[in-house]
Amino acid sequence: MQFRAVKGTFDVLPDEIGRWQKLEQAFRRMAELYGYQEARTPILEPLELFVRSVGETTEMVEKQMFALQRGDETLALRPEGTAGAARAYVANSVHAREAVSRWYYIGPMFRAEQPQRGRYRQFHQAGCEIYGDAGPGSDAEMIDMLVGFLQGLGIGGVRVLVNSLGAAGTRERYRQALKTHLSPMADRLSDHAKKRLEDNPLRILDSKDPRDQEAIQEAPSVLDLLDDDDRQHWERLCQALDALGTPYEVAPRLVRGLDYYTRTLFELQATGGELGTQNALLGGGRYDGMIKDVGGPQTPAIGFAMGLERVLLAMPEDAPARPPICFIAPIGARAQAEALLLGRELRQLGIVTEVDTRGNSPKSMLRRADSIGAHACLLIGDSELDKAVVQFKDLRAHSQQEVPRGEIAARVAALLGTDGEKR
Ligand code: HAM
Repeated sequence: MQFRAVKGTFDVLPDEIGRWQKLEQAFRRMAELYGYQEARTPILEPLELFVRSVGETTEMVEKQMFALQRGDETLALRPEGTAGAARAYVANSVHAREAVSRWYYIGPMFRAEQPQRGRYRQFHQAGCEIYGDAGPGSDAEMIDMLVGFLQGLGIGGVRVLVNSLGAAGTRERYRQALKTHLSPMADRLSDHAKKRLEDNPLRILDSKDPRDQEAIQEAPSVLDLLDDDDRQHWERLCQALDALGTPYEVAPRLVRGLDYYTRTLFELQATGGELGTQNALLGGGRYDGMIKDVGGPQTPAIGFAMGLERVLLAMPEDAPARPPICFIAPIGARAQAEALLLGRELRQLGIVTEVDTRGNSPKSMLRRADSIGAHACLLIGDSELDKAVVQFKDLRAHSQQEVPRGEIAARVAALLGTDGEKR
């Protein structure tokens, strides 16, 4: 019996891993340059954590959770990283040790969505969170960092959408304003939106249903309802972005699917390319109330997460080269023992080395060396062992030389280069 990968999940095989590693390394470099440090939190969290933080009446919690019951515990595979990071921040009393914490994370997330290109049930996010800084300077710095990051990956034409939802008071006024605007046209809304009109009208702005889209076209703008403090935060954010020269568009209908956001919201979208409707490369925002909601002290926070699959789809194709490989082809049992020793020596010099231990014919071993794109091949048989030499093939120059055993490692290093570090 054969098994397939679970719906909405996929395998990343070795010939594709280079692009993933390149992206992850670039992300780590950027995050660390800005003072973020990595945090690793569990994939399993109490389901209630997401109900509390992301919101009971969000799509994510209502429809997309992978929930598991074990004894009397109800757990969930995390659908996003912010809630778990906040739980870890509070549970470990990080606030008592540091005035400001800057964390980053990379890892798998799980949402039971209808799979399509750029939308999966297990996908990967790389994200950052800042705790203890109320902004708006940190908000602008984060958006600017991300615009530069995507540019550095060669992704052109990114749209930067920015909005502010205000703090709790503004949000409440906006809820009321939306309800007042949409109630008279409730008959024309989708069934889902009709339900949301009562419990969470902001979520109607996320709807892709054409009936809802039409109804929200004339909806009031949250930016007209900001109170003085919210307005000052918003204006200072825009001024900081202007001063940085960061391009952005004000998007007053952007609300971003999760209930924890306050004030600044942003989303960076790919234009063109293959992503179609799944064009949000990353999204984030401020969530100044969440740390308190999950049991901590009042702490302002802001963060974002990018979808690695989507960024990879938007990145220009350039097959990252594997480092040069040295292939060792031993002929016979004695030679195989020597090949294992030589392989270890080369790796200690930082040279990627594959020893063919299959016991196959020289011809078949050379075919394998070719197929993996090896730069050098070392042939060792009984006569080489007796003479204490190795046949050294430079597979790109198509040349072969007999080299004394004692000199071979240095010769290979000279041809292939090493990573410079003796391990
Ligand atoms: P989100 O907008 O739900 O925000 O997800 C962030 C990014 O993850 C999206 O822009 C998209 O690139 C990617 N993504 C989401 N769902 C999928 C999926 N099913 N398949 C592939 N990629 C996906 C959050 O998750 C927040 N935690 C962001 C945040 C951090 N806000 C504050 N801090």
